[in-house]
Amino acid sequence: MKLNPSKDFLLVTGGCGYIGSHTTVVLQKAGFQVLILDNLKNSKPKVLSRIQEITGQRPEFVEGDIRDAKGLEALFQKYRVSACLHFAGLKAVGESVEQPLNYYENNVQGSLQLFKAMKEAGVKRLVFSSSATVYGQPKSLPLSESASRQAENPYGQTKLMIEHILEDLCRSDLDWSVMSLRYFNPVGAHPSGMIGEDPLGIPNNLMPYISQVAVGRRKKLQVFGNDYPTSDGTGIRDYIHVMDLAEGHLAALRAAFESTGFQALNLGTGKAASVLELVQAFEQASGVKIDYEIVQRRPGDIAECWADPRLAREKLNWSCQRGLIEMCADSWNWQQKNPQGYD
Ligand code: NAD
Ligand code: WQD
Repeated sequence: MKLNPSKDFLLVTGGCGYIGSHTTVVLQKAGFQVLILDNLKNSKPKVLSRIQEITGQRPEFVEGDIRDAKGLEALFQKYRVSACLHFAGLKAVGESVEQPLNYYENNVQGSLQLFKAMKEAGVKRLVFSSSATVYGQPKSLPLSESASRQAENPYGQTKLMIEHILEDLCRSDLDWSVMSLRYFNPVGAHPSGMIGEDPLGIPNNLMPYISQVAVGRRKKLQVFGNDYPTSDGTGIRDYIHVMDLAEGHLAALRAAFESTGFQALNLGTGKAASVLELVQAFEQASGVKIDYEIVQRRPGDIAECWADPRLAREKLNWSCQRGLIEMCADSWNWQQKNPQGYD
């Protein structure tokens, strides 16, 4: 099947969320028609008009749930869909420990319903939002795709289970083409500052926490531990600009039309940054001093994690273009223009 940008729809589940909205912008700019399916559990419909302001085109939108088999059937009957980018899911690690059944139901059961509806409709190209969390505690660094997988919390388990389901599906039917993209730590925002990350309540993740401190919504950052065996004792991660990530999805989509089978790929920069290095980069990019205090380690955190990004470069002809300062500058630009997020 050939990829026909302007004719068919790309179904983007969870397209109102942080990564899905940025990817929608990139897909539309590349000439694709996007149909978003989102239940708005963790996003606001206002993102649709923001996307329209950036791209000049409002994505089609269906408010609905991936767990709703009838709704999915109706959607595939109404729209001609050529491929799906599947972002919809719950993603808070701590919450997943408290509510495992909700996480397995939403993420695993929801994905199963989606894949069944796709199969029924003959749509067999998929780009899936996986996560570096499937590697668990790294045995060696950088992490390559062949590293063993060992999820350490219910959220990570859901990603791992979905990967297994997709591997089996691709083995059972050689027409399927699945790109499972294992994101490292997505940060930043569209350079316009029109769309960005808007977590509900207290941010779980580092960058939104820092930018809420910078804008005055929170008093100070708590740095979770400075006694790790790392250069400055704080945790080390591979932060990736969300626009690089979004462009990675476009490249993966194109690749999904040129190959079949299951392919897992790391989307990361391959560069490591500590918590304090990110704080410093943010201060440099924003000119705002970030107050912080060192507190206990966060249970379940790993010391360090970064990607071997070579396979994605080879398979997708894609690599990250944006550095730490640009990630911080764009996060700050979004936060400054939208101190309360989309509200
Ligand atoms: P997000 O919460 O901003 O976006 C997810 C979207 O999916 C939200 O708009 C939410 O309303 C929607 N959704 C959730 N359950 C749904 C359901 N049952 N039916 C329909 N819509 C539903 O999250 P994000 O940061 O944009 O992440 C997107 C995907 O990438 C998720 O699958 C997440 O697990 C994965 N991921 C995220 C990160 C990260 O750090 N942000 C890292 C690795 C992987
Ligand atoms: C980064 C570093 C913290 C907040 C999580 C999920 C993972 C993936 C991405 C979806 C760590 C430190 C953080 C704070 C801090 N999501 N930190 N103070 O933990 O690498 O990954 O998001 O798949 O599954 O686990 O990201 O941004 O929470 O933390 O000191 O207030 O910042 O200890 O070293 P993490 P993070």
